[in-house]
Amino acid sequence: MSGRLWCVVPAAGRGTRVGGDIPKQYLPLGGKPLILHTLERLAAHPQVAGLMVVLGARDEHWPGAGELAGKPLLTCVGGAERCDSVLAGLRALPAAVTDAAFVLVHDAARPCVRTADIARLIELGIPAGGGLLGAPLRDTLKRAGDDGRSHDTEPRDHRWRAFTPQMFRRGELSAALLAASLAGVTVSDEAMAMERAGFAPLLVEGAEDNIKVTTAADFALAEFLLPRTQ
Ligand code: C5P
Repeated sequence: MSGRLWCVVPAAGRGTRVGGDIPKQYLPLGGKPLILHTLERLAAHPQVAGLMVVLGARDEHWPGAGELAGKPLLTCVGGAERCDSVLAGLRALPAAVTDAAFVLVHDAARPCVRTADIARLIELGIPAGGGLLGAPLRDTLKRAGDDGRSHDTEPRDHRWRAFTPQMFRRGELSAALLAASLAGVTVSDEAMAMERAGFAPLLVEGAEDNIKVTTAADFALAEFLLPRTQ
């Protein structure tokens, strides 16, 4: 029912916890920078029209490719927080992407996203007005005090972990992110901005191996998962 979608890829995080001076998205994963795995997987998806990669202002590592798998690969400069970077990416999309068009947002740090999960998000999310990949919380959730002790146990029902991609209409998501920013609220994902704007994004269950690579151990795990999660 839909045409192909553009994908905004926030990659302007400094994320230097794992690799010293090099932002984590440029650290090698199986001999290739982490971000390239993510971009190749997105570009290979038949429902992706093009990629808008959001880079840090002083990014010295971006190789500068203008297309990938025959699809346009554009870049723009991000902001201080992830939500600022996503808004910058939405603004920089080509004019042909209308306000009513659905756009995917996917973290550069999630290279193991499955093709079938992206397709299901698009299939179920478009009739629902937008949605996100996630998974119901399976562990028991504790409320910690400053003393490092558990002081309470949160109910687990109806609690989900939010992944990416998240998919919303370009115009509605831009307005929601701008409204949050003007209110001084740093939203941690697109769905949070949409919830604040009165929307109820559809939760589409996706594979839990769509991990966000954050620590050194995650690099080893992602290398194991990559060939198993096409
Ligand atoms: O820091 P975290 O792992 O939550 O970042 C998620 C994604 O958002 C990463 O791909 C990171 O590069 C991106 N990001 C961004 N702009 C920021 C902070 C993070 O594009 N200011």
